[in-house]
Amino acid sequence: MISVSFLKSIYGRYETLKKIDNSICDCVHVDLMDGIYVGEKNFTLDEIINDLKDLKKPLDIHLMTNSPEKYIRDIAKLHPLRITIHLNTTNNINDVIDLIKEYNIEVGIAINPNEDIHLIDKYIDIIDYVLVMSVYPGKGGQEFIPSVLSKVEYLKNKNVLIGIDGGINEQSINYLKDYRIDNIISGSFVCMGDDYNKQIELLKYN
Ligand code: DX5
Ligand code: ZN
Repeated sequence: MISVSFLKSIYGRYETLKKIDNSICDCVHVDLMDGIYVGEKNFTLDEIINDLKDLKKPLDIHLMTNSPEKYIRDIAKLHPLRITIHLNTTNNINDVIDLIKEYNIEVGIAINPNEDIHLIDKYIDIIDYVLVMSVYPGKGGQEFIPSVLSKVEYLKNKNVLIGIDGGINEQSINYLKDYRIDNIISGSFVCMGDDYNKQIELLKYN
């Protein structure tokens, strides 16, 4: 799967989301930042729900926020494919995992470049997806960090879907060819020009 993030784009958010939705990608990757877990705040619930509610493609929600439980009930109304949260953002991650599952939404945990992959071990049997961050969360347009591929290698025989997020472009995609990756996320490489499909094609390995 290829999912596209709207975070860094030459167009405004609504127009970017529409262009992603009308492209050949598989999912819309929705980066939500609260200005606390990461420096920048980029949403209010009302605005984002309004922007997302008419999209046709599956939504891959990436919560870069503290207290993700505050947002899940509202986001669930959009029937996303998946909600991914970060470690150390809530007092009881198990409760958040259960809450997401109650809505029949896939649960993901994201792991930052400086976090030990073994932190995932105790959740691996109860989640659907691990999002390996290949940049530090907080903004689009950063450079891919190849050392995170050891985390993808670690996950390869585990019963969990694998995503990778950050700095994916025509060059860095070459690092990924030998790995099982279920969801490749790209933002600025697709959205900093006008022809999204042309860019997405360049990410499809053959
Ligand atoms: C990083 C976000 C990523 C990012 C992807 O904070 O979670 O989804 O926007 O964008 P690029 O491809 O520009 O790194
Ligand atoms: Zn993301």
